[in-house]
Amino acid sequence: MKTPITVSVTGAAGQIGYALLFRIASGALFGPDQPVNLRLIEIEKALPALEGTVMELKDCAFPLLSEVVATADLDEGFKGANWALLVGSVPRGPGMERNDLLGINGKIFTGQGEAIARSAAEDIRVLVVGNPCNTNALIAMRNASGVPNDRFFAMTRLDENRAKAQLAEKAGVHSSDVTNLCIWGNHSSTQYPDFTTALINGQPVTDIITDREWLENTFIPDVQQRGAAIIKARGASSAASAENAAIDTVRSLVTPTPAGDWTSVAVCSDGSYGIPAGIIASMPIRTEDGKSWSVVQGVEVSAFSQEKISGSIAELQSEMDAVKDLLA
Ligand code: NAD
Ligand code: LMR
Repeated sequence: MKTPITVSVTGAAGQIGYALLFRIASGALFGPDQPVNLRLIEIEKALPALEGTVMELKDCAFPLLSEVVATADLDEGFKGANWALLVGSVPRGPGMERNDLLGINGKIFTGQGEAIARSAAEDIRVLVVGNPCNTNALIAMRNASGVPNDRFFAMTRLDENRAKAQLAEKAGVHSSDVTNLCIWGNHSSTQYPDFTTALINGQPVTDIITDREWLENTFIPDVQQRGAAIIKARGASSAASAENAAIDTVRSLVTPTPAGDWTSVAVCSDGSYGIPAGIIASMPIRTEDGKSWSVVQGVEVSAFSQEKISGSIAELQSEMDAVKDLLA
C-alpha cells in the first residue's frame, strides 16, 4: 500500500466542497491505487453540516480513504498537507463581478497562507478556487513565508473546459478534439480564451471555424460571462463543473502533459510574455514529470491577442493594488 497523500480542503461544507470530497476519496485525483487523507476546514458555524458530510464519506467505505479530519483550526487542517484546495469563500451573486468579493474574501487567504507555511508538508502545492481566485492566490502566496512561489495555482481550468466545449459544439466535434487552448490572465470577465492558437484534431481552429465574427464577438464574451450565465440560470454559482475543473487541474499538474499541448492555470509570472513578474496570471503551462512545471514558450501572440491579454493583466494589477495591505 502506498503512503497516503494528504489533501486539505477549505470550504468543505460548501457546494463545491460537497462534490469534490467524494471524487477525491474515490481516487479521481491521484488514481485508483493511491490512498488519501482528507483534512477538511470550515468556519465554526459550518462544522455541524460538515460533520454530516464526514458521516457520508465514512458511509461510502471508500477503499482509498485512510483518514478524515474536520476542523476549524487552520494548523490542524493544513497539518502535513501535500495539496491544499482553497475553496472556502463567499461566492458572488447576480449582478456582481468576482472582484467585488475581494473585500470579503481576500482576508481569508492571509491566515491560510500563514498556516500553510507553518503546518503543511515540505512539498505542499496549493490550488485556489475561491474567488477572485487569482488575487486570493497572490495573497496566500505572499503570506506563506518560505513556501516557494511555484507551489501556488489559481483555477482557470473551468474556463478552458468551457472554451473547448463551445468550440467543439460549433465545429461539430468532441471537446477532447480541441487542444492548445490557453486562457490568459484573470479568472474574470476580462479573461482571454485564445482561439487563435487552438487546434481541432491538429488543425487551426480558425481553419475549421471560419466565422471570425462568431469567434471574436460570441465565443469570447460567452466564455468570459459563462459563470454569470450559470448564476442567472441556477440562482447559485457553478458547482459540479467547478469541482470537476479542480480535479482536472490537479491531475494535469501531477501527470505529464501530452506532447505538444498545454493546460491553463494561473501561476506566479516569471515575466514570460511580458506579464509582470510576481502576479498570478493564467498562461500556457506544461509539466514533464508531474512535479515541476514550466510556462510554454513561443506561443504566438498576435496584436489582437496582445490587446486582450494586456487588458486582463491591467485588471490583475489593479486588484493587486486594492489588496496591497494584505500582501506580506
Ligand atoms: P458555498 O457558499 O457553497 O461554500 C463556501 C463554503 O466556504 C461555505 O461552506 C463556507 O462556510 C466556507 N467558508 C467561508 N469562509 C471560510 C473560511 N474562512 N475558511 C473555511 N471555509 C470558509 O460556495 P461554493 O459554491 O462552494 O463556492 C466557493 C468559492 O468558489 C466561491 O468563491 C466561488 O465564487 C468560487 N468558484 C470559483 C470557480 C473558479 O473557476 N475559480 C468556480 C466556481 C466557484
Ligand atoms: C465560475 O466561473 O463559474 C465561478 O467563478 C463562479 C462565478 O462567480 O462566476
